Amino acid sequence: MGDESRLDITALIMDDHEWFRRQFARLDDAQSPAELAEVWDALATRLDTHAQAEETIFYPALLKRGDDAEDETDDAVRDHNKIRDAVAEAGRHEVGSSAWFDAVSRARTENSEHLAEEEDEGLPDFRKNAGWELRTSLGELWLQFYAAHPHGAGIDPSDRDPEQYLEEHS
Ligand SMILES: [Fe+2]
Repeated sequence: MGDESRLDITALIMDDHEWFRRQFARLDDAQSPAELAEVWDALATRLDTHAQAEETIFYPALLKRGDDAEDETDDAVRDHNKIRDAVAEAGRHEVGSSAWFDAVSRARTENSEHLAEEEDEGLPDFRKNAGWELRTSLGELWLQFYAAHPHGAGIDPSDRDPEQYLEEHS
């Protein structure tokens, strides 16, 4: 596998997950609203971009191959909605205010639960059932998706209807 393993879609998703955890930790160390805003702006943007990237590239492929893909996908879209809602709620409050901290803390909790579920269920299901070629070609699409949406450009932060999503992609 060698260096190619870096292009595996499941590894790229986990790279983002690690980055998310690190950025939430950086918020704990921020010393001013300006520092909080700097970390949070990038984090909020990437949370929304990551959710849409997964819904565009990963979950449609999982639905075609996975053993328990419908449940995993339904859970993921619902979790993504909860994360998107908390990110949007934070955006309605002054950075550093208690309402802002509440919303960011909700985003963090929802995100942590979601990452664990994805890492324990959806990603393993895909690794077991998708060939290496598919995993790396989806990895390339993943990188292209990020390149096409710099700083969240063109990302739709609205909630997705899980049932409609499953219908469209099954
Ligand atoms: Fe996800």
